[in-house]
Amino acid sequence: MSWHLDAVIYQLHVRTFCDSNGDGIGDFPGLTSRLPYLQDLGVTCLWLLPFYESPLRDDGYDIAHYERIHPPYGTHDDFRRFLDEAHARGLRVITELVINHTSDQHPWFLAARRAAPGSRKRDFYVWSDHTSRYAGARVIFSDTESSNWAWDPVARAFYWHRFFSHQPDLNFDNPGVRRAVVKVMRYWLDQGVDALRLDAVAHLFEREGTSCENLPETHAFLKAIRSDMDRRYGSRVLLAEVNGDAETVRTYFGDGDECQMAFHFPLLPRLFLALVRGDARPIIQAVTATHPLPDGCQWATFLRNHDELALSTLEEHERATVLDACAPDTAMRLHGGIRRRLAPLLGNDRARIEVAFSLLLSLPGSPVLYYGDEIGMGDDVRLPDRDGVRTPMQWSDDTHAGFTDARARRLITPLIDDATYGYRRINVAAQINDPDSLLSRIRRLIAGRRAHPALARGSIEFLQTGSDAVLAFARTHGSETVVVVANLSSAVRSIGLVLPAQTVGLPLVEIVDDVVFPPAAATPYPLSLAPYASLWFACAAAGAPA
Ligand code: GLC
Ligand code: CA
Repeated sequence: MSWHLDAVIYQLHVRTFCDSNGDGIGDFPGLTSRLPYLQDLGVTCLWLLPFYESPLRDDGYDIAHYERIHPPYGTHDDFRRFLDEAHARGLRVITELVINHTSDQHPWFLAARRAAPGSRKRDFYVWSDHTSRYAGARVIFSDTESSNWAWDPVARAFYWHRFFSHQPDLNFDNPGVRRAVVKVMRYWLDQGVDALRLDAVAHLFEREGTSCENLPETHAFLKAIRSDMDRRYGSRVLLAEVNGDAETVRTYFGDGDECQMAFHFPLLPRLFLALVRGDARPIIQAVTATHPLPDGCQWATFLRNHDELALSTLEEHERATVLDACAPDTAMRLHGGIRRRLAPLLGNDRARIEVAFSLLLSLPGSPVLYYGDEIGMGDDVRLPDRDGVRTPMQWSDDTHAGFTDARARRLITPLIDDATYGYRRINVAAQINDPDSLLSRIRRLIAGRRAHPALARGSIEFLQTGSDAVLAFARTHGSETVVVVANLSSAVRSIGLVLPAQTVGLPLVEIVDDVVFPPAAATPYPLSLAPYASLWFACAAAGAPA
């Protein structure tokens, strides 16, 4: 029970992970064949990007049939085999519930545009004769769309869309839509998926005179589907995708009766701001503002995902700082964020990449790793939209990076093939048996986290270090305290760490490298930290059960 509180989540795209049949498109049998790799990495849960039937104009977030699998990814049986095999290996599976909108190719939309105005079928979507309704709603894809309304020549009316104009928003005021969406939810829960990521869930309802985001009606609907899910299925999980400030995102946990998880969008840009400035305070501020949560709830923390790195919750000057440092070229920017992978964002500096993962895996929240970042994959900003961070997984230096066999003439998206990040240099095969590789380091961090439940379930207390460049905190659960210290700056730092009272006299054992340090003392504990060094100390009373 409550597996989501200790989950280590790996996000991947079936399409770009592994191709089993040489057509150049990743598929379920390919993914299933790579489960041993994921199990060995130590992750406990897989989050799959949308794999439903789709014209793929938004990489599958434009769904044309909710209950069908996009044919090149495999059959329903392939999906079932994948799910069974994942479960047999102790891996949970999160799939996407994209209900704010459909593709304009979805049968509901094709019917709606032809149906009589005011009819039940027409009202599956949101229509208007003019574009001045809901003027308070911002345009989200600001680099590609200029309005939330698009003209439909068949319906001879405008339809509402918060994302691409080929993604009409469903009309949640129509009870038929709400019923249809619940049916889709039950369909995938019946298949046995463990959790659903609720895509773009802040935008379900529209009301005049509001921003049309985070409305009370949306929260009421979430409470309703949560109770339906609990009643029928027991311990399944809802994960909210809402980008907003701390106060806003927290509302999606409700009183523990909405989503059990939400992505930690408030922390994300502050992690990067902290690393750019070499200053721990943005992290302390973000974590303090977002705790505690209702019982049974957990943040999903992340460094990167399949979208641009969202910076919208930063102050203007903070955003400029991160953009200047991490995305100097305008081709790297999209919708006010950054469309780059983790390694390039951090200047491909191994120590900085490691400290970022160290924080991801030790701060409160269930960490989400984005496929390929564990080997330091790069991106390709010449590709359109966000495709540059969604290139095929680099398994080896073989033809097509081991993603597909040589029969494939065309790949779904080009491989990264440059001198620094190209698959000939950066690949799983080159790292998996090298104890000094990034992959091995991350595997050890994950193992360390899983061996110390305080890092998943513990409380958090920030510790004095005498330096704003050094972040230190204690995570305590039961009789165990883990103390994490991280130098966020590019200079060596010498600090005096004020350890929590309950650790005084206890031996300090560094978890990741298994090194014994002198016992904790009542006086500040002297430590010297190399640039971007981080240490995880286990301090448990001898013989005490953790
Ligand atoms: C979410 C997805 C993004 C997609 C958008 C519209 O934000 O993460 O990839 O483009 O929804 O569906
Ligand atoms: Ca294939």
